[in-house]
Amino acid sequence: MNATLFAQPLKTDRLTLRLFAESGLDDMYAYQGLPEVARYLYRPPRDRARCAEAIERIGQGTHWKEDSDSLTLAVCRRDAPGVIGEVMVSLSAAQAAQAETGWVFPPDHGGRGYATEAALALRDLAFQQLSVHSLFARVDADNAASMRICERLSMRREAHLVENDRDDRGSEYIYATLAREVEPTVTD
Ligand SMILES: CC(C)(COP(=O)(O)OP(=O)(O)OC[C@H]1O[C@@H](n2cnc3c(N)ncnc32)[C@H](O)[C@@H]1OP(=O)(O)O)[C@@H](O)C(=O)NCCC(=O)NCCS
Repeated sequence: MNATLFAQPLKTDRLTLRLFAESGLDDMYAYQGLPEVARYLYRPPRDRARCAEAIERIGQGTHWKEDSDSLTLAVCRRDAPGVIGEVMVSLSAAQAAQAETGWVFPPDHGGRGYATEAALALRDLAFQQLSVHSLFARVDADNAASMRICERLSMRREAHLVENDRDDRGSEYIYATLAREVEPTVTD
C-alpha cells in the first residue's frame, strides 16, 4: 500500500474519524488487548507489538480497488484527546462493490452512542465516496450491542450462520443494507 485514499478527517457531531498515527498506540492497545473485546472478533487479544504492526499498516490508508482493500479509522472525541475506538470498511468483492464494515470500542466508553455515530459516518463514506453498493456486517449471535448498531445503520438481518465457529459452537448473523436504501447522515 503506498497510495492514501483517505486523507481528510471525517467529522460528526461529537467525533473525528481519521487515519491512525503512532501516537495512538497506547490507546489502541488499551482496547485491543482486552479479552472481552477480542471475544467477538474471533481472535486472541492483540499485544502491544501487534498493535504497533497494525498501526503501521492501517495508518497509511488504502487503495480502494481490489478485494481485501481495507480502511480502518481511529475514532476520537472532538472534545477530548486520544483514540476511543476504531471503525473499518473492507472491500470483500470488488466486482460486486460489496464491502464489510465493523467497529471496535472499549467497554469503558460503551453505551454512549460513539460506536453508532462513527459507524454511521463510515457507512455514509462507503456509499458516497467509495461507491459501495452493498454493505454488510458479521455479528456474533450473542453480541446484542453490535446488532443494535446494525439496526441503527438501517441494516437488515439477512443470514443466520448456525454454529459456524468450530471452536466454541457460536453462531453469527449477517446484516446488510444497500446504498439506495439509506438516507445519508449529515457530516462536515
Ligand atoms: C459492540 C460495541 C462496538 C458497542 O459499543 P458501544 O460503545 O456500547 O456502542 P453504542 O454506545 O453506540 O451503543 C450501541 C447500541 O447498543 C446498545 N448496547 C450497548 N451495550 C449493550 C449491551 N451490553 N447489551 C445490549 N445492548 C447494548 C446501546 O444501548 C445502543 O443501543 P441504542 O442505540 O438503542 O441506545 C463494543 O461493545 C465493542 O467494540 N465490543 C467488542 C468488539 C465487537 O464486538 N466488535 C463488533 C464485531 S461485529
